[in-house]
Amino acid sequence: MSLPVLKTARLVLRPVAQGDADRIVELVGNFDVARMLSLVPHPYRREDALWWIDQTCAYADGGERAFAIDEGSGLIGAVSVGRDGPAPEFGYWLGKPYWGRGLMTEAGRAALAWYFEAFRDASILSGALDENSASLNVLRKLGFAGPHPHRLRIKSRGQDLPGTRVRLTFETFNSAARVLS
Ligand SMILES: CC(C)(COP(=O)(O)OP(=O)(O)OC[C@H]1O[C@@H](n2cnc3c(N)ncnc32)[C@H](O)[C@@H]1OP(=O)(O)O)[C@@H](O)C(=O)NCCC(=O)NCCS
Repeated sequence: MSLPVLKTARLVLRPVAQGDADRIVELVGNFDVARMLSLVPHPYRREDALWWIDQTCAYADGGERAFAIDEGSGLIGAVSVGRDGPAPEFGYWLGKPYWGRGLMTEAGRAALAWYFEAFRDASILSGALDENSASLNVLRKLGFAGPHPHRLRIKSRGQDLPGTRVRLTFETFNSAARVLS
């Protein structure tokens, strides 16, 4: 079973492919991206990208459901709605040249709508560092709520840093979408 292709006003969300490795290395290799992500090492090597691609492609066997975010000229970021289980994780990043245009809110909404179509009762977890205002704003706009403090391990910095965990249900997702439409 493979992930579908989802279209939004400006983006295509599609399964990640081996051919995305170079773009992922280039974009995640930027420390400004890596420093906000828990599990991403820095420097980021091609083998790190290939490992990540392999496990997302095997999502039916317990890997992540991760979409490549594509603006038409190749991968610009990724959004994932987690592994099977009672509380899947929502994770995401965009390459730095693409920040600040509302693209992650748009991509996140499409991925979450797709997920809730299949798993209406899901309770999706996410979180961000307290210093990551852009990410906390994305989560709030998508309807994630009930913030509680949580220290996050950041591999690229070798540090545990203050962060916030939040949760999304179908109801809070829909309410947020109504406010924005
Ligand atoms: C976090 C990230 C995905 C945001 O993507 P983005 O497409 O730039 O976000 P959006 O443009 O959809 O912005 C969402 C909201 O945050 C606001 N925002 C954007 N950048 C911001 C910043 N640096 N500080 C404060 N608010 C910011 C936007 O104004 C928008 O709110 P608004 O519509 O009310 O104006 C992107 O910065 C990124 O990939 N960062 C590195 C990796 C990362 O942090 N991943 C998430 C880990 S939890």
